[in-house]
Amino acid sequence: MKGIILAGGNGTRLQPLTFTSSKQLAPVYDKPMIYYPLSVLMLAGIQDILIITRPSDLPAFQALLGDGHQLGLSIDYATQGEPRGIADAFLVGEDHIRGEQCALALGDNLFHGANLPTLLRRTALKMGGCVLFGHEVADPERFGVAEIDSLGALVSIEEKPRQPRSNLAIPGIYFFDAQVTDIARDLEPSPRGELEITDLLRVYLKMGTAELVWLGRGVTWLDTGTHESLLEAGTFVRDTQRRQGIRLACIEEIAMHMGYIDPDDCHALGARMGNSPYGDYVMERARLCKAGMLPPLPLEAL
Ligand code: TTP
Repeated sequence: MKGIILAGGNGTRLQPLTFTSSKQLAPVYDKPMIYYPLSVLMLAGIQDILIITRPSDLPAFQALLGDGHQLGLSIDYATQGEPRGIADAFLVGEDHIRGEQCALALGDNLFHGANLPTLLRRTALKMGGCVLFGHEVADPERFGVAEIDSLGALVSIEEKPRQPRSNLAIPGIYFFDAQVTDIARDLEPSPRGELEITDLLRVYLKMGTAELVWLGRGVTWLDTGTHESLLEAGTFVRDTQRRQGIRLACIEEIAMHMGYIDPDDCHALGARMGNSPYGDYVMERARLCKAGMLPPLPLEAL
Protein backbone atom coordinates (compact mmCIF):
# COMPACT_ATOMS: atom_id res chain seq x y z
CA MET A 1 0.00 0.00 0.00
CA LYS A 2 1.18 3.52 -0.84
CA GLY A 3 0.97 6.49 1.51
CA ILE A 4 0.48 10.21 0.95
CA ILE A 5 0.98 13.01 3.47
CA LEU A 6 -0.78 16.17 2.39
CA ALA A 7 1.37 18.96 3.80
CA GLY A 8 0.51 21.89 1.55
CA GLY A 9 -2.15 24.53 2.12
CA ASN A 10 -1.54 28.12 3.13
CA GLY A 11 -2.22 27.66 6.83
CA THR A 12 -4.00 31.01 6.90
CA ARG A 13 -5.28 30.50 10.44
CA LEU A 14 -1.68 30.28 11.64
CA GLN A 15 -0.44 33.44 9.94
CA PRO A 16 2.03 35.09 10.36
CA LEU A 17 3.80 31.80 11.27
CA THR A 18 3.01 30.33 7.87
CA PHE A 19 4.09 33.20 5.60
CA THR A 20 7.63 31.90 5.31
CA SER A 21 7.49 28.34 6.51
CA SER A 22 5.16 25.39 6.38
CA LYS A 23 2.62 24.71 9.11
CA GLN A 24 3.58 21.04 8.96
CA LEU A 25 7.16 21.86 9.96
CA ALA A 26 6.08 23.87 13.00
CA PRO A 27 7.18 22.32 16.29
CA VAL A 28 4.68 20.23 18.21
CA TYR A 29 6.65 20.27 21.46
CA ASP A 30 9.87 18.41 20.54
CA LYS A 31 9.53 17.50 16.87
CA PRO A 32 8.20 18.87 13.58
CA MET A 33 4.48 18.37 13.05
CA ILE A 34 4.98 16.08 10.05
CA TYR A 35 6.56 13.42 12.30
CA TYR A 36 3.06 12.70 13.65
CA PRO A 37 1.27 11.78 10.39
CA LEU A 38 4.46 10.11 9.17
CA SER A 39 4.49 7.88 12.23
CA VAL A 40 0.84 6.98 11.63
CA LEU A 41 1.61 5.75 8.10
CA MET A 42 4.70 3.89 9.34
CA LEU A 43 2.64 2.17 12.05
CA ALA A 44 0.15 1.10 9.38
CA GLY A 45 3.06 -0.73 7.73
CA ILE A 46 3.42 1.74 4.85
CA GLN A 47 6.97 2.42 3.63
CA ASP A 48 6.41 4.05 0.23
CA ILE A 49 5.33 7.61 0.96
CA LEU A 50 4.70 10.77 -1.05
CA ILE A 51 4.85 14.15 0.72
CA ILE A 52 2.91 16.96 -0.99
CA THR A 53 4.00 20.50 -0.07
CA ARG A 54 3.82 24.09 -1.25
CA PRO A 55 6.59 24.68 -3.83
CA SER A 56 8.37 27.16 -1.54
CA ASP A 57 8.49 24.66 1.35
CA LEU A 58 9.80 21.69 -0.59
CA PRO A 59 13.55 22.20 0.13
CA ALA A 60 12.93 22.29 3.89
CA PHE A 61 11.00 18.99 3.83
CA GLN A 62 13.72 17.41 1.70
CA ALA A 63 16.39 18.64 4.10
CA LEU A 64 14.48 17.16 7.03
CA LEU A 65 13.54 13.72 5.68
CA GLY A 66 15.56 13.20 2.50
CA ASP A 67 14.63 10.10 0.53
CA GLY A 68 13.68 8.28 3.74
CA HIS A 69 16.28 5.50 3.39
CA GLN A 70 17.70 6.25 6.86
CA LEU A 71 14.32 5.15 8.25
CA GLY A 72 13.95 2.23 5.87
CA LEU A 73 11.38 4.21 3.88
CA SER A 74 11.08 5.48 0.34
CA ILE A 75 9.98 9.13 0.46
CA ASP A 76 9.11 11.09 -2.68
CA TYR A 77 7.94 14.66 -2.98
CA ALA A 78 5.46 16.56 -5.13
CA THR A 79 4.18 20.11 -4.98
CA GLN A 80 0.73 21.64 -5.05
CA GLY A 81 0.85 25.22 -6.36
CA GLU A 82 -2.49 26.27 -4.89
CA PRO A 83 -4.62 24.66 -2.20
CA ARG A 84 -7.03 22.96 -4.60
CA GLY A 85 -8.52 20.72 -1.91
CA ILE A 86 -7.73 17.55 -0.03
CA ALA A 87 -8.99 15.24 -2.79
CA ASP A 88 -6.52 16.93 -5.16
CA ALA A 89 -3.84 14.84 -3.38
CA PHE A 90 -4.85 11.92 -5.58
CA LEU A 91 -4.35 13.90 -8.79
CA VAL A 92 -1.00 15.35 -7.66
CA GLY A 93 -0.05 11.88 -6.42
CA GLU A 94 -1.32 9.88 -9.39
CA ASP A 95 2.14 8.73 -10.53
CA HIS A 96 3.02 7.72 -7.00
CA ILE A 97 -0.13 5.64 -6.46
CA ARG A 98 0.13 3.87 -9.83
CA GLY A 99 -2.98 1.77 -9.43
CA GLU A 100 -2.30 0.61 -5.87
CA GLN A 101 -4.24 1.07 -2.65
CA CYS A 102 -3.37 4.26 -0.84
CA ALA A 103 -3.61 5.80 2.62
CA LEU A 104 -3.90 9.57 2.90
CA ALA A 105 -2.80 11.36 6.08
CA LEU A 106 -3.32 15.09 6.57
CA GLY A 107 -0.08 16.74 7.57
CA ASP A 108 -1.58 18.61 10.52
CA ASN A 109 -3.47 15.78 12.26
CA LEU A 110 -2.06 14.10 15.36
CA PHE A 111 -3.22 10.75 16.73
CA HIS A 112 -2.24 8.85 19.83
CA GLY A 113 -3.73 5.93 21.67
CA ALA A 114 -4.18 2.35 22.64
CA ASN A 115 -4.99 0.00 19.77
CA LEU A 116 -4.34 2.61 17.08
CA PRO A 117 -1.37 0.82 15.46
CA THR A 118 -3.24 -2.50 15.47
CA LEU A 119 -6.34 -0.84 14.07
CA LEU A 120 -4.33 0.83 11.29
CA ARG A 121 -2.47 -2.33 10.34
CA ARG A 122 -5.67 -4.38 10.32
CA THR A 123 -7.35 -1.75 8.15
CA ALA A 124 -4.43 -1.61 5.72
CA LEU A 125 -4.42 -5.40 5.35
CA LYS A 126 -8.14 -6.02 5.03
CA MET A 127 -9.52 -3.07 3.25
CA GLY A 128 -11.57 -2.74 0.07
CA GLY A 129 -13.32 0.39 -1.24
CA CYS A 130 -12.52 3.12 1.24
CA VAL A 131 -12.17 3.29 5.00
CA LEU A 132 -12.74 6.45 6.97
CA PHE A 133 -12.64 6.82 10.71
CA GLY A 134 -15.12 8.36 13.13
CA HIS A 135 -14.19 10.16 16.32
CA GLU A 136 -16.63 11.67 18.80
CA VAL A 137 -16.16 15.40 19.29
CA ALA A 138 -17.96 18.18 21.15
CA ASP A 139 -18.08 20.51 18.11
CA PRO A 140 -18.86 18.37 15.01
CA GLU A 141 -19.99 21.42 12.98
CA ARG A 142 -16.27 22.26 12.48
CA PHE A 143 -15.54 18.98 10.64
CA GLY A 144 -16.70 16.47 8.07
CA VAL A 145 -19.37 14.50 9.93
CA ALA A 146 -20.43 10.86 9.53
CA GLU A 147 -23.92 9.63 10.30
CA ILE A 148 -24.36 5.95 11.17
CA ASP A 149 -27.42 3.72 11.60
CA SER A 150 -28.21 1.60 14.64
CA LEU A 151 -25.96 -1.18 13.30
CA GLY A 152 -23.02 1.18 12.91
CA ALA A 153 -23.21 1.31 9.11
CA LEU A 154 -22.37 4.59 7.42
CA VAL A 155 -25.46 6.47 6.20
CA SER A 156 -24.32 9.97 5.27
CA ILE A 157 -21.29 12.26 5.15
CA GLU A 158 -21.56 16.02 5.40
CA GLU A 159 -18.93 18.76 5.32
CA LYS A 160 -19.12 21.20 8.26
CA PRO A 161 -22.93 20.86 8.64
CA ARG A 162 -24.76 23.65 10.49
CA GLN A 163 -26.89 21.01 12.20
CA PRO A 164 -24.78 17.87 12.48
CA ARG A 165 -26.67 14.57 12.46
CA SER A 166 -24.12 13.02 14.81
CA ASN A 167 -21.07 13.95 16.85
CA LEU A 168 -18.82 11.67 14.81
CA ALA A 169 -16.18 13.80 13.11
CA ILE A 170 -14.04 12.31 10.33
CA PRO A 171 -10.34 12.73 11.15
CA GLY A 172 -7.53 13.20 8.63
CA ILE A 173 -6.52 9.61 7.88
CA TYR A 174 -8.24 7.65 5.13
CA PHE A 175 -7.63 4.43 3.18
CA PHE A 176 -8.63 4.02 -0.48
CA ASP A 177 -8.57 1.33 -3.12
CA ALA A 178 -6.94 1.74 -6.53
CA GLN A 179 -9.97 3.50 -8.07
CA VAL A 180 -9.34 6.65 -6.07
CA THR A 181 -7.54 8.64 -8.77
CA ASP A 182 -10.25 7.94 -11.35
CA ILE A 183 -12.91 9.02 -8.88
CA ALA A 184 -10.99 12.15 -7.87
CA ARG A 185 -10.59 13.12 -11.53
CA ASP A 186 -14.37 13.17 -11.97
CA LEU A 187 -15.02 15.42 -8.96
CA GLU A 188 -16.22 19.00 -9.49
CA PRO A 189 -14.77 21.77 -7.32
CA SER A 190 -17.06 22.86 -4.51
CA PRO A 191 -18.38 26.46 -4.17
CA ARG A 192 -15.15 27.29 -2.27
CA GLY A 193 -13.20 26.06 -5.31
CA GLU A 194 -11.75 22.88 -3.75
CA LEU A 195 -11.94 19.17 -4.55
CA GLU A 196 -13.58 18.07 -1.32
CA ILE A 197 -12.62 14.87 0.46
CA THR A 198 -16.23 14.51 1.62
CA ASP A 199 -17.41 14.46 -2.04
CA LEU A 200 -14.88 11.72 -2.76
CA LEU A 201 -16.01 9.70 0.26
CA ARG A 202 -19.63 10.16 -0.81
CA VAL A 203 -18.92 8.51 -4.18
CA TYR A 204 -17.68 5.41 -2.32
CA LEU A 205 -20.71 5.62 -0.01
CA LYS A 206 -23.03 5.60 -3.04
CA MET A 207 -21.19 2.56 -4.44
CA GLY A 208 -21.71 0.82 -1.10
CA THR A 209 -17.98 0.43 -0.48
CA ALA A 210 -17.30 3.03 2.22
CA GLU A 211 -16.65 1.63 5.65
CA LEU A 212 -16.56 3.67 8.82
CA VAL A 213 -14.28 2.49 11.63
CA TRP A 214 -14.92 3.98 15.05
CA LEU A 215 -11.71 5.19 16.67
CA GLY A 216 -13.13 4.80 20.15
CA ARG A 217 -12.41 6.59 23.40
CA GLY A 218 -8.89 5.26 23.75
CA VAL A 219 -7.64 7.35 20.84
CA THR A 220 -6.78 11.02 21.08
CA TRP A 221 -7.12 13.02 17.85
CA LEU A 222 -5.85 16.57 17.72
CA ASP A 223 -5.67 18.95 14.82
CA THR A 224 -3.15 21.72 14.95
CA GLY A 225 -4.56 24.33 12.59
CA THR A 226 -4.92 27.26 15.00
CA HIS A 227 -2.55 28.93 17.43
CA GLU A 228 -4.61 27.60 20.33
CA SER A 229 -4.81 24.01 19.06
CA LEU A 230 -1.10 24.01 18.17
CA LEU A 231 -0.21 24.97 21.71
CA GLU A 232 -2.68 22.45 23.14
CA ALA A 233 -1.17 19.69 21.00
CA GLY A 234 2.32 20.58 22.22
CA THR A 235 1.14 20.52 25.82
CA PHE A 236 -0.58 17.15 25.27
CA VAL A 237 2.62 15.68 23.84
CA ARG A 238 4.78 17.10 26.62
CA ASP A 239 2.47 15.88 29.39
CA THR A 240 1.96 12.41 27.90
CA GLN A 241 5.66 11.92 27.30
CA ARG A 242 6.58 13.16 30.75
CA ARG A 243 4.03 10.91 32.47
CA GLN A 244 4.84 7.77 30.50
CA GLY A 245 8.57 8.21 29.95
CA ILE A 246 8.21 7.49 26.24
CA ARG A 247 8.15 9.76 23.18
CA LEU A 248 5.22 9.97 20.80
CA ALA A 249 5.81 9.86 17.04
CA CYS A 250 9.51 9.11 17.44
CA ILE A 251 10.04 8.03 13.84
CA GLU A 252 13.47 6.51 14.50
CA GLU A 253 12.08 4.27 17.25
CA ILE A 254 9.08 3.30 15.15
CA ALA A 255 11.33 2.43 12.19
CA MET A 256 13.33 0.15 14.51
CA HIS A 257 10.26 -1.52 15.98
CA MET A 258 8.72 -2.08 12.59
CA GLY A 259 11.96 -3.78 11.54
CA TYR A 260 12.69 -1.14 8.87
CA ILE A 261 16.11 -0.42 10.46
CA ASP A 262 18.18 -2.28 13.03
CA PRO A 263 19.13 -1.02 16.52
CA ASP A 264 22.60 0.07 15.35
CA ASP A 265 21.08 2.26 12.61
CA CYS A 266 18.63 3.67 15.13
CA HIS A 267 21.44 4.43 17.57
CA ALA A 268 23.38 6.23 14.84
CA LEU A 269 20.34 8.40 14.07
CA GLY A 270 20.07 9.28 17.75
CA ALA A 271 23.80 10.06 17.99
CA ARG A 272 23.37 12.75 15.31
CA MET A 273 21.08 14.52 17.79
CA GLY A 274 23.10 13.50 20.82
CA ASN A 275 23.01 16.96 22.35
CA SER A 276 19.22 16.84 22.72
CA PRO A 277 16.93 14.83 25.00
CA TYR A 278 15.24 13.51 21.85
CA GLY A 279 18.56 12.15 20.56
CA ASP A 280 19.34 10.65 23.99
CA TYR A 281 15.97 8.91 23.95
CA VAL A 282 16.52 7.45 20.48
CA MET A 283 19.94 6.08 21.54
CA GLU A 284 18.52 4.64 24.77
CA ARG A 285 15.67 2.88 22.96
CA ALA A 286 18.18 1.43 20.50
CA ARG A 287 20.34 0.17 23.41
CA LEU A 288 17.33 -1.40 25.14
CA CYS A 289 16.16 -3.02 21.93
CA LYS A 290 19.62 -4.48 21.25
CA ALA A 291 19.75 -5.86 24.79
CA GLY A 292 16.37 -7.53 24.21
CA MET A 293 14.78 -5.36 26.85
CA LEU A 294 12.00 -3.92 24.72
CA PRO A 295 9.02 -6.13 23.94
CA PRO A 296 8.99 -6.91 20.20
CA LEU A 297 6.09 -4.68 19.23
CA PRO A 298 5.07 -2.34 22.06
CA LEU A 299 3.46 -0.28 19.38
CA GLU A 300 0.30 0.70 21.21
CA ALA A 301 2.35 3.16 23.21
CA LEU A 302 4.10 4.78 20.26
P1 TTP B 1 -6.83 22.91 6.11
O1 TTP B 1 -6.64 23.01 7.58
O2 TTP B 1 -8.20 22.76 5.60
O3 TTP B 1 -6.16 24.15 5.37
P2 TTP B 1 -4.81 24.88 5.70
O4 TTP B 1 -3.83 23.96 6.32
O5 TTP B 1 -4.32 25.58 4.47
O6 TTP B 1 -5.19 25.91 6.84
P3 TTP B 1 -6.13 27.22 6.87
O7 TTP B 1 -7.54 26.72 6.92
O8 TTP B 1 -5.69 27.84 8.16
O9 TTP B 1 -5.82 28.10 5.70
O10 TTP B 1 -5.99 21.68 5.56
C1 TTP B 1 -5.90 20.45 6.21
C2 TTP B 1 -4.59 19.78 5.83
O11 TTP B 1 -4.57 19.52 4.42
C3 TTP B 1 -3.36 20.61 6.09
O12 TTP B 1 -2.29 19.72 6.43
C4 TTP B 1 -3.07 21.28 4.78
C5 TTP B 1 -3.52 20.25 3.79
N1 TTP B 1 -4.04 20.79 2.54
C6 TTP B 1 -3.25 20.76 1.43
O13 TTP B 1 -2.10 20.35 1.47
N2 TTP B 1 -3.77 21.22 0.24
C7 TTP B 1 -5.03 21.68 0.14
O14 TTP B 1 -5.44 22.06 -0.97
C8 TTP B 1 -5.84 21.73 1.32
C9 TTP B 1 -7.24 22.25 1.26
C10 TTP B 1 -5.32 21.28 2.49
